[in-house]
Amino acid sequence: MALTLAERSKLIAPSATLAMAAEAKRLKGQGVAVLDFALGEPDFPTPENIQEAAFRAIRGGQTHYTPPAGMPELREAIADLYTKQQGLPTQAAQVVISNGAKHSIHNALMALCGPGDEVIIPSPYWVSYADLVKLTGATPVVIATPESSGFKLTPEQLEAAITPRSRLLMINSPSNPTGVVYVRGDLERLADVVLRTQIGVISDEIYEQLTYGGVAPTCFATLRPELAERTITVSGVSKTYAMTGWRIGWAVAPLAVSKFMGDLQSQETSNPCSVSQWAALEAVTGPQDSVRAMKEQFAKRRAYVLERIERLPGVTCIPPGGAFYAFMNVSSHFGRTLGGQVITDSTSFCLTALAKAHVALVMGSAFGAEGYARLSFATDLATLEKGFDALEVFLKG
Ligand SMILES: Cc1ncc(COP(=O)(O)O)c(C=O)c1O
Repeated sequence: MALTLAERSKLIAPSATLAMAAEAKRLKGQGVAVLDFALGEPDFPTPENIQEAAFRAIRGGQTHYTPPAGMPELREAIADLYTKQQGLPTQAAQVVISNGAKHSIHNALMALCGPGDEVIIPSPYWVSYADLVKLTGATPVVIATPESSGFKLTPEQLEAAITPRSRLLMINSPSNPTGVVYVRGDLERLADVVLRTQIGVISDEIYEQLTYGGVAPTCFATLRPELAERTITVSGVSKTYAMTGWRIGWAVAPLAVSKFMGDLQSQETSNPCSVSQWAALEAVTGPQDSVRAMKEQFAKRRAYVLERIERLPGVTCIPPGGAFYAFMNVSSHFGRTLGGQVITDSTSFCLTALAKAHVALVMGSAFGAEGYARLSFATDLATLEKGFDALEVFLKG
C-alpha cells in the first residue's frame, strides 16, 4: 500500500520560479537555446577572495560542526556590521546564521506564529512567503498593493488589515519581484502603525546593497528605538556576493527569538556549512570592490532593460529602484493570440513566450499579482539583447 502524505503536504506548492527554471532546463536539455530570465541569482562567479577563504578553511581543517546558530566569528562580524554600518546596536547573541535567508525566514516564522495566527503579506510578494507561513499553521493575509500606488503597502492598508489575530507583517525592500524600494518616510509611517499595535515585523533586506540611482535602502529596525524589540531583520550573502549556492543567510532578532531560532536549528539542521560560514566571513569583512563592480554591471543592465521595455509594444514597467528584476505589465496582451496561442493570463503569457520565443520569464501570478511577468536581469547584456529581440518578434503576434 502506498504511503499517505501528512496533511501538511497539501499546504505548499513547489516554488514557481524554480518550476519555470526547470521547464527552461528541460527545453535546454532538448537542445533549445533558451534565453533564461527566470532565476533570481547573480550570474557572476563568487569573488576570488571569498573562494580563497573557503579553500583556506577546508585546508585548515574547518570542516567540523560549528555551534548551531553559527560560528562566533561570523555572528560577531554581523553584529558589528549592524551596529556600525546600519546604526542598529546588535549583540552577537541576536544573530543566527542559517542555510540561506529563506531558512532564516522559516525559522523566524516558526518562532513567532502558528495555528490561528495571521501574517500580513503585501503582494506582489516573494514566492516563498505565503507557503512558509502556511507551513507553521498560520494564515497568510495577502494585501494587494496596486501598480498605481507604486506597489507599496500604505499605512491605511496595514491598519485595516490588522486584527487581534495578527502576529506579523512581512516586508521586503528592495522588493522581489517589483524592485520597489520603500523610502524612509514610507517605512516610518508603516513603523508607526506597527508600534500602535501588538504585531512584529520580518523585514527581508536581502537586496539591501543592490539599489540604483542614489536610492538608499533603509534598515527597518533602526527607524524607531522600540522597533528592535519587534523586528527580525533578514539578510545574507546570496545576492550581494553572488553566493547563492553557499547557503548562508542570517537573522538579527530580539534575544528570546534568536535563542529559539538557534535551538530550532540545533534540532533541525545543526549548523550551516562550516566552510560556507568562513567564506561568508570573508565576504562581509573583506574587500568590497567586487560588490561595487557587480553593482555597476547590474546598473548597466537595468538601464538597457528599461530602454528595451520602452520599445516593447504594450508593455510597461515601474523602473526598479533595487534588486535585479523588471516587473513588466503585460496585461494589454491578454485576449490576443501570440505564437498561435490565445493569451489569457500571466501563466499562458510566460509559457507561450518560453515555448515560442524561448524566453523564460516568471508569471506575475506566482507573486500574487496577475497581469505581470518578471524578468531577471542577473544575466549578461548579450543574452538580454537576444531576449528582447525575441520578445519583440513574439509580441507582434
Ligand atoms: C526576497 C528574497 N528573500 C529571500 C531570498 C532567499 O535567499 P537565500 O538564497 O539566501 O535563501 C530570496 C531569493 O530569491 C529573495 O528574493
